[in-house]
Amino acid sequence: MPGAFVVLEGGEGAGKSTQCRRLADALAARGHEVVVTREPGGTPTGEAIREVLLGSASQGMAARTEALLFAAARAEHAAALIRPAVARGAVVVSDRYLDSSVAYQGAARGLGEERIAELSLWATEGLVPDLTVVLDIDPSVGVRRAHDANRMEAEPRAFHEAVRGSFLRRAEAVPDRYLVLPADHPKDVLAARILDAVLALLPDEPSDATPAPVSTSQVLPPGASAPVGTGADARGGRTSADDAARGERA
Ligand code: TYD
Repeated sequence: MPGAFVVLEGGEGAGKSTQCRRLADALAARGHEVVVTREPGGTPTGEAIREVLLGSASQGMAARTEALLFAAARAEHAAALIRPAVARGAVVVSDRYLDSSVAYQGAARGLGEERIAELSLWATEGLVPDLTVVLDIDPSVGVRRAHDANRMEAEPRAFHEAVRGSFLRRAEAVPDRYLVLPADHPKDVLAARILDAVLALLPDEPSDATPAPVSTSQVLPPGASAPVGTGADARGGRTSADDAARGERA
């Protein structure tokens, strides 16, 4: 039975990475195989592209170069990690996906939301999430909350307002596939709402749930309290050690 593909989206400082972890822990505890991943990244190729995209060498990169690199990382992510994991029954939880490109490159960089959506759909052969959770945050709060300083966070307020508007429009257009939550609600409340929405996508877990298989990047065995690194290094995925180094952010 196929699994599910769930994405957390939101502007800077929305708390996505915390909620990804909480969701993954809760699903694994119920016996589901979980793969936690992120964009750009999640595969060796994707992580290498991430270095190019978010490193200091890319200052001033042309907007189209940026859009194509995000799409290239996503193509690899869909083909090498997401599709195979979902096909074998895992729940893939991704920190960002296609809507980030639509919002950042399409809306905020002005390349056109439709065009960027088409590019990503081409790159992924039409792979769309079963559910996209948008953690909505006022950019003036979010950018302050974000701990790292990537190129996007340095963009002006209008850029982040455009990102926010795009996420909300996409969610409004296809409400069945989106869940919009205010990012400033208590973390426990958010985690419970997200878990409920994801469980509704999945078959009932057996009452005698046994440990789920551990295989690809960032797979959580049932009961794990944090992503384990098994296989993550080999695939270039993020490990819990990386998260600790990055601190709580998203
Ligand atoms: P990251 O350090 O992962 O930040 P965050 O915790 O906010 O996700 O950096 C990813 C950055 O890349 C973030 O600023 C959003 C941006 N981005 C795009 O511009 N387009 C995309 O398609 C994706 C996936 C991310």
